[in-house]
Amino acid sequence: MARITLNVDGANHTIDADPDMPLLYALRNDLGLNNPHFGCGLAQCGACTVHVDGEATRSCVTPVGSVGSAKVVTLAGLGTPEKPHPLQTAYVAEQVPQCGYCINGWIMTAAALLEKNPKRSDKEIRDGLAGLKCRCGTHMAILRAVKRAAKEMA
Ligand code: FES
Ligand code: FES
Repeated sequence: MARITLNVDGANHTIDADPDMPLLYALRNDLGLNNPHFGCGLAQCGACTVHVDGEATRSCVTPVGSVGSAKVVTLAGLGTPEKPHPLQTAYVAEQVPQCGYCINGWIMTAAALLEKNPKRSDKEIRDGLAGLKCRCGTHMAILRAVKRAAKEMA
């Protein structure tokens, strides 16, 4: 066990944890944040994605001890109900979610992609989101929402 301080959504939190424990467990179990989801636990679905210093990161395979002073942002830190991120607005406008389980991963991955460069071609968007899974098959609605947000962010 070690004493580990994480900066998450702009606030510092100190927890006692095994440094090898996945960041996802710290976020969900120690900090009570429910947006990063446990899907596969093997870096294969993206449901657990958060930003670590702006990079879309699969928290299920990221040891909590490796995060250090990097800034972690979750879906809750991306926008607020009063000031939503353009992707959050677009997901509502396009009525994307079915069960909603995967949505955290799609939005967090797309946000990192568009924040680096919102002027993305269709192929770049598809390639950037290729490693994500949605069992409900909302892929076409997701693409509409990401393109809608990209226009807003450009
Ligand atoms: S739960 Fe992390 S990639 Fe599936
Ligand atoms: S909306 Fe259900 S898994 Fe994607």
